[in-house]
Amino acid sequence: MAIEPSPSSTSDIAARAPASPLVRAEWLRRVEAEYRSAVVTQELTLWLMKVGASPDLIRAGLRIAKDEMTHADLCFRTYAEAGGEAGPVLPRETLGLRRREGEPLEHDVLRVCVDAFCIGETVAVPLFQRLRAGCSVAGPRRVLDRVLRDEVRHRDFGWALLGWLLELPLAPALRELVERELPSYFGRMRRAYAPQGTKPSAAFSPDDRAWGLMPIAEYAEVLERTVDKDWVRLFAEHGFDATKAWRAGA
Ligand SMILES: [Fe+2]
Ligand SMILES: [Fe+2]
Repeated sequence: MAIEPSPSSTSDIAARAPASPLVRAEWLRRVEAEYRSAVVTQELTLWLMKVGASPDLIRAGLRIAKDEMTHADLCFRTYAEAGGEAGPVLPRETLGLRRREGEPLEHDVLRVCVDAFCIGETVAVPLFQRLRAGCSVAGPRRVLDRVLRDEVRHRDFGWALLGWLLELPLAPALRELVERELPSYFGRMRRAYAPQGTKPSAAFSPDDRAWGLMPIAEYAEVLERTVDKDWVRLFAEHGFDATKAWRAGA
């Protein structure tokens, strides 16, 4: 375990912001999300071994699966520190990846690469930066430090894997697949983080922010900024028009 539990001296407890039910619910949701990421990455890495990906990518995938287990563990410690006493709900039939039989395995590898890493892990970096900026309680702050450090490497893995896939003999079909499905990946991300009618939440509790939470409107802002700041440039490096895909996914 890379991060020690937060100090629990009397002065730390006395000074720290109280943890609300929202704080507990959010950190438990994070336990579930991190565990899901671990399962996805573990399975993706097995697929990478089956398609004969480069050993560097396979080792990077194994390391990421391990990171995500650590993140789930650290989030659970924070949930417990906030007074949480339940456990995560992770029905086994909802975990892992789905194969589209009849299509080459590389197609499914590409789907996970673009959706979970080029999109998901890329926006995770500025999202965690924003969450960390407002987080002042020692335990969750250390968790966000660790997660943010790892997410940068997870993001880079996604773009390296995309580059590798687009050098395969199957590349023309893989390119078509990205063109066809990118709008729906963006659309799903948008609906998750920026539901229609999202309003700035002036009433958001400073204590909740101190525990590493932020209002949904700020997720939406970060998402919009990531289009121009990261996705347009990074997808363009691989020959894709993210601006067009983002608009099409609205
Ligand atoms: Fe993670
Ligand atoms: Fe990650």
